[in-house]
Amino acid sequence: MGLLRPAVEDVQARHPDTVLVDAGSGNAYLGFVLYELFLKGAASGTLLSIEGRPDLTERAQGRAQRLGFTRMQFQTAHIDTARYPERIHLLMALHACDTATDDALVAAIRHGADHVAVVPCCQAEVAAQLKEKRPVVASSGSMSLLYAHAWHRREFGSHLTNVIRALTLEAFGYQVTVTELTGWEHSLKNELILGRRVHRENRRARVQLERLLAETGVNPKLTRELGVKPAAAAIVEPDSSPEPEFPVASEPVEASDVSGA
Ligand SMILES: C[S@@+](CC[C@H](N)C(=O)[O-])C[C@H]1O[C@@H](n2cnc3c(N)ncnc32)[C@H](O)[C@@H]1O
Repeated sequence: MGLLRPAVEDVQARHPDTVLVDAGSGNAYLGFVLYELFLKGAASGTLLSIEGRPDLTERAQGRAQRLGFTRMQFQTAHIDTARYPERIHLLMALHACDTATDDALVAAIRHGADHVAVVPCCQAEVAAQLKEKRPVVASSGSMSLLYAHAWHRREFGSHLTNVIRALTLEAFGYQVTVTELTGWEHSLKNELILGRRVHRENRRARVQLERLLAETGVNPKLTRELGVKPAAAAIVEPDSSPEPEFPVASEPVEASDVSGA
């Protein structure tokens, strides 16, 4: 709440009819606390919880009725196909699984949300892309060593995904802060990405993003959905270096790969 407070107070000061969206809301715990602290005492303002599991939506809806939280709304839907209000002031996604975080960011960007706050969950898509693209990026020198092993690919893939998420927000005009959510003893999925919309777009960040996609050979759901393409000039050709004189050991630990995680 302390980390979200500046964003909520900012939008409440500027938009009395504040619209807050919690994407992948689960039991809507985040929404209930936000409502209690910021909306209950206000004359207006709504909080929309979007959750894919109908049982969780129903339970949270019943709890909201019992508490008299009448401006809490619930929708059972996938984040990418949900019906959103025309205008969103703050969109949050706390531990929305895998590419669901990307779906939430796409919704925030498309609806011009003033603020966005995501704490990404597990990520598998980019690790799988890194594995697929290894031959393309092999001539990029030592960088490909960062994800030669399955375990490193998962960690690096997750990190790269969040770097792309932050940079994409910047490219679409957000000022971004990346920070720790809580103590590591509580969660390993601990990266909070906060964005505040300050421009329509940021050309410098867009160019950096397109280069990053080209140099790493990945294109996650977020950038695909938003039509961001890798910079053409930066695409690295497959390695044309001669075959190694000695056989190279094949990768031993496919079982721990994340492509099916
Ligand atoms: C790890 S839980 C987190 C729940 C809640 N945000 C919290 O922090 O307590 C992730 C939730 O996101 C929901 N979810 C995952 N992908 C989704 C999607 N694409 N659309 C809607 N809900 C989704 C899951 O059903 C689950 O309830």
